[in-house]
Amino acid sequence: MKICVLPGDGIGPEIMAQAVRVLEALRTDGLAFEIEEAKIGGCAVDADGVPLPESTLALARAADAVLLGAVGGPQWDALPREQRPERGLLGIRKALNLFGNLRPAILYPELANASSLKPELVAGLDIMIVRELTGDIYFGQPRGIESRDGERVGFNTMIYSESEIRRIGKVAFDIARKRNRKLCSVDKMNVLECTQLWRDVMIELSADYPDVELSHMLVDNAAMQLVKNPKQFDVVVTGNMFGDILSDEAAMLTGSIGMLPSASLDENNKGMYEPSHGSAPDIAGKGLANPLATILSVAMMLRYTFNQEAAAVRIEKAVKKVLADGLRTGDIYEPGTRKVGTIDMGDAVVAAL
Ligand code: NAD
Ligand code: IPM
Ligand code: MN
Repeated sequence: MKICVLPGDGIGPEIMAQAVRVLEALRTDGLAFEIEEAKIGGCAVDADGVPLPESTLALARAADAVLLGAVGGPQWDALPREQRPERGLLGIRKALNLFGNLRPAILYPELANASSLKPELVAGLDIMIVRELTGDIYFGQPRGIESRDGERVGFNTMIYSESEIRRIGKVAFDIARKRNRKLCSVDKMNVLECTQLWRDVMIELSADYPDVELSHMLVDNAAMQLVKNPKQFDVVVTGNMFGDILSDEAAMLTGSIGMLPSASLDENNKGMYEPSHGSAPDIAGKGLANPLATILSVAMMLRYTFNQEAAAVRIEKAVKKVLADGLRTGDIYEPGTRKVGTIDMGDAVVAAL
């Protein structure tokens, strides 16, 4: 297994160090892998002048899977858009054709009180958000800021082809089939043509999946339903922009965005794995970040790219054990539990393994 590790910026290197330790601990199980590290995001801009150096992309292409920390930070916010750290992340997603972004929101019973919703609303929560990741308004042309009639206008294009919709739809239906066979497609078809096509294609596709119950929801209502009654959802499929927003919202239901891993897959299950959160500049360098989302992303990598279900489950069980033992980073802390830092949390997961 060839794994390309891209720690990135902010808390990225801190959380990635713990994720790599967890991976290393699995060598004793006979898992054989090679790790190569490279730069992406702001650190790459500082070193090479671009957020996604050719050498990084080459390493990522040659690997079977990529593990990414996070990119971005205020020190790079004034750069021209092409040099922004986020462009590195968008660039690697597009270059590797990682159109299928899986963002599970699972509530660990021990964290029921860390959720901002009442425990009874979130107990047992297990949602899979399937976000399309290489299309939509994120990549649509034309885009820009220009001068028209004596003032500046900013514009982006929301666009999806039916083949793009169909391939993400298939990913979502296939996942729903392995779960509770309920798929909710989220769009804004009452206003946006692009998402009318989205809904039409999802309905067409559903003919191939008679065993999966397909429903549709407008995105504003979906945002509301997620906090009103989140357990009504099993699998949610949506476009890049809506998926970005709804997955952060769903993450918070589970107690902290520091708990939410993600997988971004191409057609052959080659993938990039990263926490759903960002570089958390407010706590970077302080040893406070929760590494569990990144550690759980390693489990997703073992499951989806390498078919190592047993190893994935081992990591997930180890995470459950440290939570049951009462260890908490600041983001999930509550009175009566033990507050620890990033490294202590990594130590505990390795010990639990
Ligand atoms: P963020 O996710 O970095 O932080 C939001 C809040 O959540 C902050 O209070 C932060 O401290 C907290 N948080 C996030 N991860 C945490 C963790 N593991 N443990 C404990 N607390 C955690 O979002 P933001 O502040 O909007 O963005 C900061 C930077 O990150 C921006 O430059 C943004 O573009 C970038 N970003 C990158 C990614 C990515 O690399 N995938 C994702 C989102 C944002
Ligand atoms: C995410 C992030 C990225 C996105 C940014 C940093 C480009 O918010 O992974 O959710 O919008 O996709
Ligand atoms: Mn996001």
